[in-house]
Amino acid sequence: MTNNPLKILIVAGARPNFIKVAPLIKAAQAYNRTAANGSAKLDWRLIHTGQHYDTKMSNVFFQDLDIPAPNVNLDVGSSSHATQTANIMNRFEPICHSEKPDWVIVVGDVNSTMACAIVAAKLAIRVAHVEAGLRSYDRTMPEEINRVVTDALADLLFTPSGDANENLLREGIPEKKIRLVGNIMIDALIKNLGKSRQCNMPKTLGLHGTKFLYVTLHRPSNVDDPQTLAKIMSELNRVSSQLPVVFPLHPRTKARLVKSAIPVFASNRFRLLEPIGYHESLCLTEQARLVITDSGGLQEEATYFRTPCLTLRPNTERPITIRLGSNRLTDLEHLHSDIDSALLGNRKIGRIPELWDGKSADRIISTLLACS
Ligand code: UD1
Repeated sequence: MTNNPLKILIVAGARPNFIKVAPLIKAAQAYNRTAANGSAKLDWRLIHTGQHYDTKMSNVFFQDLDIPAPNVNLDVGSSSHATQTANIMNRFEPICHSEKPDWVIVVGDVNSTMACAIVAAKLAIRVAHVEAGLRSYDRTMPEEINRVVTDALADLLFTPSGDANENLLREGIPEKKIRLVGNIMIDALIKNLGKSRQCNMPKTLGLHGTKFLYVTLHRPSNVDDPQTLAKIMSELNRVSSQLPVVFPLHPRTKARLVKSAIPVFASNRFRLLEPIGYHESLCLTEQARLVITDSGGLQEEATYFRTPCLTLRPNTERPITIRLGSNRLTDLEHLHSDIDSALLGNRKIGRIPELWDGKSADRIISTLLACS
């Protein structure tokens, strides 16, 4: 490696991306502070695609996670998958031309991840993918397509767990491109534990010392079909007579409820909230008696806290959360009985996977420097 600074564009577009880039930026800043005289510095820029743009879906995460303001915001906003992906590509390409980075780092599996990976690969700029190798093997999920395409194009693939390495090797990705670094979401979690405990969200909601259920659902498969969503809401309402339910609504979910005039049963025992911040969500996950979700990140955070978790999906790209962690899959038909059995079980279950230790971002930065 020469002593020229290594130029990196870090891309973030949607809520879960912000959580993943925060530790990376902290690790890059820490490296620059301690780099010996004469060693290459990291010249990084943060590019926000604007896929998520509401204050509660974006700004709040920048504040909570202390992420510096993005150097560029592509302001793409919402649209169909093709249009959103095309808009990101269109607006990211000139940034690559003007910045001439050595690496583009993309994280997770949202449309912004894939769009920027394609642009960089076509310009022969090296791509590093953080959270590579996860597979649900379900191509009806837009994220699965984003994962497969991004991994096929990436030059360095940073994986969170051994199963991801196996998936990549099966797809013919050369072993030398793959690095098992652990889970970067857990870096953010560990760093923010103090603040999340301090915010004491259950107390704010009047649920301190009470068992409660924490629900997050936003996947098209759960919320786009009015009949499915109505059934879910009715089941959650039933459960709320057993224990209070806290359900912050993703804008997609809220829009579908309103559009289809699905009855909501908001009450003191069934709390429908606006999207909540990062610390509040961590706090609810740690203290909940049970989490019900379709989010990837929540499955991992629940595993870390060893909080029982039911994932309302036919599959997960994060099987380690089931094999080792506190996660189980469920469907609408079994939700009722699965909730009942989870409530009969232990309050803390499973164990934390190896390398989910808060040091993934440091491993990523050292590898990038070593490979440059
Ligand atoms: C996206 C990701 C998904 C991730 C989720 C986390 C893709 C394909 N999907 O899904 O993997 O789990 O983010 O939240 O990239 N909207 C707002 N305000 C916003 C953003 C979105 O109101 O700030 C509304 C819009 O009506 C939009 C809808 O939410 O059409 C969906 O947003 P979009 O980014 O397309 O997908 P998500 O469902 O958020």
